[in-house]
Amino acid sequence: MQVCRNTTAFRDAIAGFRASGDGVGLVTTMGALHAGHLALVAAAKADHARVVATIFVNPTQFGDRTDLDTYPRTEAQDLQMLRAAGVDAVLIPEVAEIYPEGDETIVETTRLAHVLHGQVRPGHFRGVTTVVAKLLNIAQPDAAYFGEKDYQQLQVIRRMVRDLHSPVRIVGVPTVREPDGLAMSSRNTRLTPEDRAAAACLSRALDAAEAEAGWRVPIDRIDQVLRTTINREPRAALRAVDIVDPDSFDPVRGLLTRKVAIMISAEFGGVLLIDQREIGPD
Ligand code: PAJ
Repeated sequence: MQVCRNTTAFRDAIAGFRASGDGVGLVTTMGALHAGHLALVAAAKADHARVVATIFVNPTQFGDRTDLDTYPRTEAQDLQMLRAAGVDAVLIPEVAEIYPEGDETIVETTRLAHVLHGQVRPGHFRGVTTVVAKLLNIAQPDAAYFGEKDYQQLQVIRRMVRDLHSPVRIVGVPTVREPDGLAMSSRNTRLTPEDRAAAACLSRALDAAEAEAGWRVPIDRIDQVLRTTINREPRAALRAVDIVDPDSFDPVRGLLTRKVAIMISAEFGGVLLIDQREIGPD
């Protein structure tokens, strides 16, 4: 695996793969890797002869300085994991290279970035789309892989790529979970053992909602099932339950007659966790 500390080395590595006729898949990360990230690598490897990755803790998507400063950094272990997973080249750039002196261009989905999680984290999705646009331009892969766990992120990136006529194919990868159902996340390491156990109520709530989700069931009933399941867990502070159209993120009301996305979030001892699931007929 080629470890590239600047974009020129990374572009050269990719040009070498292209020269031998290989297709290239890209996985972007902020490091602190776990099995969820490796599922993206595995999906990319299944489709392409070469897989390249990026590790970059992107400052522009963090609202709060301490969240950025305390973001876990585990580079040596990350490199070991990527190497073992068969990644061909990884880019680990400096902030000043991604955002050079005088940098002033932003990329933003003007509506999608501001609904749901975008309301709670102002500026977050603008930071994500701006950095992902840069990383896609640097790597110019055939396809880029993103987790369904960060569902709004995935849809925002799909919209950006479509709107900008970018030739990259965006592939969504199902959420990888712990044995008790908790979605894997770098944030999980911040939970106390009690909160870690309690956090399984998020996926339990999605299971209960899915079990309830028959044809023409009132959306309100599904909403109730989600809230009741989470509120039954005393350590959970429910933050949001949204049942929305998967493309527009507009709230869905009335009866369940089509596919909807459930997006939920709750805090456990101050750590905000999110989960999501699509339910209903296609
Ligand atoms: P990060 O949180 O490191 O996640 C990198 C990728 O891994 C994202 O596409 C995310 O959705 C995916 N991922 C995380 N946990 C997962 C899980 N349990 N199952 C499946 N996929 C999972 O998301 C980011 O970084 C950044 O916003 C980034 C896209 C790199 C832009 O800075």
